[in-house]
Amino acid sequence: MTDSTPDPRAPLAERVLRGDPRAVARAISLVEDESPQGADLVRRVFGHTGRAYLVGITGAPGAGKSTLVDRLIAEFRRGGKSVGVVAVDPTSPFTGGAILGDRVRMQSHAPDAGVFIRSMATRGNLGGLARASSDAALVLDAAGVQALKAGIMEIADIFVVNKADREGADRTVASIEALLSLDSYAGGRWRPPIVKTEATAGKGVPELLAEIERFRTHTAASLGDRRRARAEFRVQELLAHRFVQHVHDRVLKAGEFKDLLDRIASRDTDPYTAVDDIIRRSLAGPEMARPEGRAPRVMLGAAARGAGPLGPANPTLDHIGIAVADVAQALAFYRDALGLDVEAPEDVASQRVRAHFIPAGESAIELLEATAGDSPIAKYVAKRGPGLHHITLRVDDIRATLARLKAKGVRLIDEQPREGAHGSLVAFIHPSSAHGVLVELRESVGS
Ligand code: CO
Repeated sequence: MTDSTPDPRAPLAERVLRGDPRAVARAISLVEDESPQGADLVRRVFGHTGRAYLVGITGAPGAGKSTLVDRLIAEFRRGGKSVGVVAVDPTSPFTGGAILGDRVRMQSHAPDAGVFIRSMATRGNLGGLARASSDAALVLDAAGVQALKAGIMEIADIFVVNKADREGADRTVASIEALLSLDSYAGGRWRPPIVKTEATAGKGVPELLAEIERFRTHTAASLGDRRRARAEFRVQELLAHRFVQHVHDRVLKAGEFKDLLDRIASRDTDPYTAVDDIIRRSLAGPEMARPEGRAPRVMLGAAARGAGPLGPANPTLDHIGIAVADVAQALAFYRDALGLDVEAPEDVASQRVRAHFIPAGESAIELLEATAGDSPIAKYVAKRGPGLHHITLRVDDIRATLARLKAKGVRLIDEQPREGAHGSLVAFIHPSSAHGVLVELRESVGS
């Protein structure tokens, strides 16, 4: 995480791999937001991970986790290792991991460039937190730090009884022993050791580190298996999450899920029938799944690839963007005269525009209203008057499409995609290559 001069213009993944702390912080925010850029970043750095040793630390509130983590950081640093901490506190939905993280941070390591500490908020969603903290650990791994993931853990490999000087500590040790004695740990299997610490005084911390190292050595041979098991868990979990998201965004109509729950509650239908129906519709492809739907906000990879019943491989028209000088007059035409439904407007701060989406079959019309005098839309209207501003084509692999266009000599405004509305990736083709029209390419999340 040190000794590199960060170049703020370099792609984020590159800066993460060089250990630029700002890039690491930004990258963790992206994975925490479950943004498409976060997923893209994980894709880019994943091949560089697997070097860090991940240690999970968990325990009841008041067990002294933050002090213990603080002492462990010091011990790792003495060994010349850099350390990243992802502090997660699922027990406090309002403060998130902030308290745990701040407590660790407030102690001695803030000025140390070899220590990176990050708190993660829960936002009341444990599944999202588990996904985000795993990805955050990957980011730290890519940046070349040891990752300590404090707060959540699945299985304990080492038990620590902290505050060992307190009354009751021996009873705690005895009860863990009793629990461990239920298993014979035959065949050389790892038997979790119990380490007594007094973190405030630093007592027992070198012993704990030694046990972590001993565990690492003991399990070195099975590292591949454990990584495979973790990969299996991650893929299953992500697949389920993405599929459910796809169902909500692309398959179910507005309010349908709630109706379904009502019908199950009143015994009009049963959960198996309901789920079978949703799966059948999900596999039928986007057109059949949601005939009145507009642009897909989330497109499941498997359902979007290839031609035929699983989805279009060719670009499809997503929407037509129209620059308007007077949005009230434009709405009077499109909404009141034509009778189209207009979605709630969305502000795109970076462009100083307000977009009003009007679904029209599989596509949509986007009315673009400038919100400031220096907005590109204001300039466009001043120069050319209101009218057609851009068309947007939906593609299922924006990078492949851009590469193909570039190879064919098409003039691109963006050679790399950037983040667009509704969690999408977008890129623009120059009007000089598209016969006078600005063409936007758009790829939905996960496609
Ligand atoms: Co648009």
